[in-house]
Amino acid sequence: MIKNDLFLRALKGNSVERPPVWMMRQAGRYLPEYIELRKKYDFFTRVQTPELAAEITVQPIDIIGTDAAILFSDILVVPQAMGLEVQMVESKGPILPKTIATSADLAQLVVDEAADQLSYVYEAIKVTKQKLDGRVPLIGFAGAPFTILCYMVEGKGSKAFDKAKQFCFAQPKLAHELLAKITEVTIQYLRRQIKAGVDCVQVFDSWSGLLSPNDFKEFSQPYLVAIANALKEESPVILFPKGSWYALEDLSTLDIGAIGIDWTISPQLARQLTQNKITLQGNFDPNHLLKPISEIKKEVKQMIEAFGKDRYIVNLGHGILPNVPVTHAKAFVDAVKLYQ
Ligand code: CP3
Repeated sequence: MIKNDLFLRALKGNSVERPPVWMMRQAGRYLPEYIELRKKYDFFTRVQTPELAAEITVQPIDIIGTDAAILFSDILVVPQAMGLEVQMVESKGPILPKTIATSADLAQLVVDEAADQLSYVYEAIKVTKQKLDGRVPLIGFAGAPFTILCYMVEGKGSKAFDKAKQFCFAQPKLAHELLAKITEVTIQYLRRQIKAGVDCVQVFDSWSGLLSPNDFKEFSQPYLVAIANALKEESPVILFPKGSWYALEDLSTLDIGAIGIDWTISPQLARQLTQNKITLQGNFDPNHLLKPISEIKKEVKQMIEAFGKDRYIVNLGHGILPNVPVTHAKAFVDAVKLYQ
């Protein structure tokens, strides 16, 4: 039994006393308790050791008091499980030394057994559920196929992912084959997370907003829809195609828990495009968390009023930034809890 089930009720579209709140990337780099652990263990040791991953997952529940926990892991464990090396370089981000460029590269990727490689994730979910002891629901996640393709082809983080986009447009057949493989692995992986105990899954399409509306329809949407449809009987699904506000109307017809949005769209327009049919999650600009606490509180109240308290999950429009003071993150959460 989950004691605080506000988040699950909002995903079902039920009326709530106040909207639930959590923050993308809440388990991590702005928390002093996390930074302590980072001194002792490297990134993938933290991710691959179930007790450590569970401890980091629960930290924001204890310290900030969010209404949901998100498993501490990374979207890049999927390329790893498919056979690509991923290095996490301090203050530089992820590096994939071997990228995907040809059909021979594609043929070498592991598909059928990839989800089996991630047993440490399923174990971390079990340990986390015990630690949470029903206090709040646990969110599992994966990267969306287009975003994973971006890293597999580009080999590192990027502002524009030109190489990845050019791969899609120059070799569309190969791109679709790659997207189909990632989709297959992602469905199996999320299914195993659900079996291990997560209460909801979120699919992060962090880079879909780099695509035009037409290109999104070709290279992202069909794969998001395939994942959502494969899992809808098993768990609520949240799709977060960052920056792809133009897809809201189409995505709102899916049988899913919620759609995540960023700050480049107003609550009013997002409601209008989705005709109030679906729960929306977002969309506070994480940089606003650097404003004085009194202003954060005022803006949170205004945001809830603009979305309406029902069919709404308060969140940021992207991950919390490393330089956000813990007191400001807590003020954001507290402002939601005080809403009436
Ligand atoms: O949300 C949470 O608190 C759970 C943990 C989580 C991490 N990564 C831990 C992490 C989640 C949900 C992610 C998702 C993720 N990872 C995304 C999608 C969300 C988004 O931000 O767009 C992406 C694109 C990645 C890939 C990735 N991982 C990058 C680009 C980087 C380096 C830059 C950065 O954000 O710090 C990472 C490293 C990473 N993943 C860190 C954490 C806490 C920081 C490294 C560290 O603490 O040592």
